Amino acid sequence: MQISFYGHSCFQLNTSKSRVLFDPFISPNPLTKGKVSADDLDVDFMLISHGHEDHVADAVSIAKRTKCSVVSAFEIVSWMEGKGIENGHPMNLGGSVELPFGKVKYVTAIHSSVLPDGTYAGNPGGFVIEADGKTIYYAGDTALTLDMKLLAESFEIDWAILPIGDNFTMGIEDAIKAAQFCGAKKVIGMHYNTFPYIAIDTERAKREFSAAGIELRLMEIGETIEL
Ligand code: NI
Ligand code: MN
Repeated sequence: MQISFYGHSCFQLNTSKSRVLFDPFISPNPLTKGKVSADDLDVDFMLISHGHEDHVADAVSIAKRTKCSVVSAFEIVSWMEGKGIENGHPMNLGGSVELPFGKVKYVTAIHSSVLPDGTYAGNPGGFVIEADGKTIYYAGDTALTLDMKLLAESFEIDWAILPIGDNFTMGIEDAIKAAQFCGAKKVIGMHYNTFPYIAIDTERAKREFSAAGIELRLMEIGETIEL
């Protein structure tokens, strides 16, 4: 299983069966220029954590072009169907679904959620994906929450993809606690350095995670790694 980073909170997970895109925010992100283009992506599934612009900017255009299945909160899927996407799969918090590539659970995130035009987007969430014998927790935008301890009771999480940029989400210290709560020894950081509000010292982040015995991967935009 491989994962590619497309900037901010956008990743593509390639399992043995499907290509799964998370939270596409590429065309408005100047950091992606010359490295990845939303128009070039081809995926089978799109998982969207919540409705904010920096998570859905390219969602409708990619879903319309690729006809991928869009998995997200009921309200977000309904909004996208109203914009012409064909394959929506609505969920709500606590629910799981077996998809062709594996099992997906939509889990709690402590944040807010509204779509770019002001449409109510339901509650924000994250995803736990079980595929190819691995378990990946994609937290979305979230504060640290004790709910993450529940994940450790139900899952053996191999990799947690956690926001570390502070201000709008967890920062470094809380993300370390989140990894400890959910039982993940390996973390991929997201939602940092895209905007001035979420600029962080990445060397400090690596040091602090390392001191806690947790591996922190900070991927380059366009980089692909094996999970
Ligand atoms: Ni957000
Ligand atoms: Mn965000």
